[in-house]
Amino acid sequence: MRLLVVPVLLWLERIFVAAEPVDLTGVRDELHFHVHARATNKDGSGPVYKDPKAPIEDRVNDLLPRMTIQEKVAQIIQGDMNGWMDLTDPLDDTKTFNQSGLEDMMSTKAGSIWGGYLVPWDKFVYGVNIGQRCLMDNTTLGIPAMFQSEGLHGFTNNGTTWPSPIGLAASFNTDLVQKAAATIADEAEGLGFSQIFAPVLDLSRELRWGRVEENFGEDPFLTGEMGHAYVTGLQSGKRRDASSTAAARMASTCKHFAAFGSPQGGLNIAQVTGGERELRTMYLKPFNRACVQSLAIMTAYSSYDGIPAIANYHLLNEILRQEWGYKYWVTTDAGSVDLLITLHGTCDTRECAAKTAVENGISGEMGGGTFTYLTLPDQVKAGSVNVSAIDETVKAMLRTKFTLGLFENPYPYDDYLTSLRTLETRDLLHQMEQEAIVLLENRNNLLPLNTDIGSVALIGPQADRVTVRAPRAAPAETDHQHHYTASRSSSPPHP
Ligand SMILES: *[C@@H]1O[C@H](CO)[C@@H](O)[C@H](O)[C@H]1NC(C)=O
Ligand SMILES: *[C@@H]1O[C@H](CO)[C@@H](O)[C@H](O)[C@H]1NC(C)=O
Ligand SMILES: *[C@@H]1O[C@H](CO)[C@@H](O)[C@H](O)[C@H]1NC(C)=O
Ligand SMILES: *[C@@H]1O[C@H](CO)[C@@H](O)[C@H](O)[C@H]1NC(C)=O
Repeated sequence: MRLLVVPVLLWLERIFVAAEPVDLTGVRDELHFHVHARATNKDGSGPVYKDPKAPIEDRVNDLLPRMTIQEKVAQIIQGDMNGWMDLTDPLDDTKTFNQSGLEDMMSTKAGSIWGGYLVPWDKFVYGVNIGQRCLMDNTTLGIPAMFQSEGLHGFTNNGTTWPSPIGLAASFNTDLVQKAAATIADEAEGLGFSQIFAPVLDLSRELRWGRVEENFGEDPFLTGEMGHAYVTGLQSGKRRDASSTAAARMASTCKHFAAFGSPQGGLNIAQVTGGERELRTMYLKPFNRACVQSLAIMTAYSSYDGIPAIANYHLLNEILRQEWGYKYWVTTDAGSVDLLITLHGTCDTRECAAKTAVENGISGEMGGGTFTYLTLPDQVKAGSVNVSAIDETVKAMLRTKFTLGLFENPYPYDDYLTSLRTLETRDLLHQMEQEAIVLLENRNNLLPLNTDIGSVALIGPQADRVTVRAPRAAPAETDHQHHYTASRSSSPPHP
């Protein structure tokens, strides 16, 4: 009897290539669902994870045991929209996609998808729809992805450009910063984004570091207040048609956790020295103020007191998860898992790097490296990686998605144009530009310019245009960095 039933149920397993057998390793057997029809229940009732009214924790706990180890690992590796779309030319508006590229991407890297490309908005929306349709309609469990971009002072996919964070902080106006952040979410939400990599809460205490303008200054209190306003603004409101339990429309991503801003010699990603007291009284203060409610956190490239941040059990488990009770998505920065081998020297192999990062960090792997997490399914089967670390990481990702209401509606909105670069946003921007101006008093002629100078030459590519600041790329980060530049001048965007 069973021999007859199984082939029929196998058909229900909507795999991309029907002939390929599904590796069901990891799926919990003998529960309330069939292993070969995992998105249904044995008694015919609907699965709790698809019930928009069910409590979020119940939905997470219902979905996790239905997942194969392959699906779990795919949740925690960042994918990229360039897997199915050609996004190389910012002006090309051809709406086509690569079906096999899409299927490859979604079977290995499907939890979050990088989408910070400067391409025409209608082409972008087309690409998001294809990706989400594939996940919702053509996979067994139907888990939507979070599409991600940058937004530390404006929405980088050709949205409104705000003053740099150092300028936003100079306004000392948290209400205005919160409104500014809300407009960034307005612009991103309609296009189908649900995760923005901001705010940056590093402290500008090492002025040789070339990224001080990405921060809200040197002070932990001001940085915490600005960061809190930013997170509140970005996450304000709910997605359309979201579940009743949804609590935010955008996953704000506090970064870089932690102690990133004072690298040795001012060199980006270099080690940071300090002890527990400095960690807690300086570096962690703004994160504790601003990020306990943010739906995502990104780890730092650097090490602190000799321990790489991405594999720092004390920081990521004992403080963040246990002490602060943080239960949402934590991701590493681009290429940073490989740095355990190439920079920190704590691992010789990709297997070691993946194991160390996931077990100590309960965090996902961003692109920009060699995707060391692809080694995890085999490592779990071989017994060398504890699957409970992967389970906890997947649960954090699912919690963030359920809190966004993504399972109910992960798609872009048809009327996305109505919230991009609106006149209201521009008025707010003008107010912010005025409040961000800093007046310097030239006491004892300290400043180098005389008042009798007739004109001042501004030289260089930034002289006549406004751009959204992109994070300085790490050595391993090669393919993300050229997508950020947006321009408000009439000249074409510079890569
Ligand atoms: C489509 O994707 C597949 C799989 O990633 C890749 O091998 C192929 O080159 C892609 N085709 C085009 C036209 O880009
Ligand atoms: C950016 O937006 C402006 C204003 O809507 C538009 O003129 C320009 O073509 C856009 N650039 C790209 C690359 O989409
Ligand atoms: C979904 O699967 C169908 C049938 O195999 C296919 O025609 C369609 O292109 C797929 N859609 C996506 C978005 O992958
Ligand atoms: C796996 O991790 C869990 C949670 O930390 C722990 O309870 C369990 O003992 C670990 N299992 C092994 C085999 O180390």
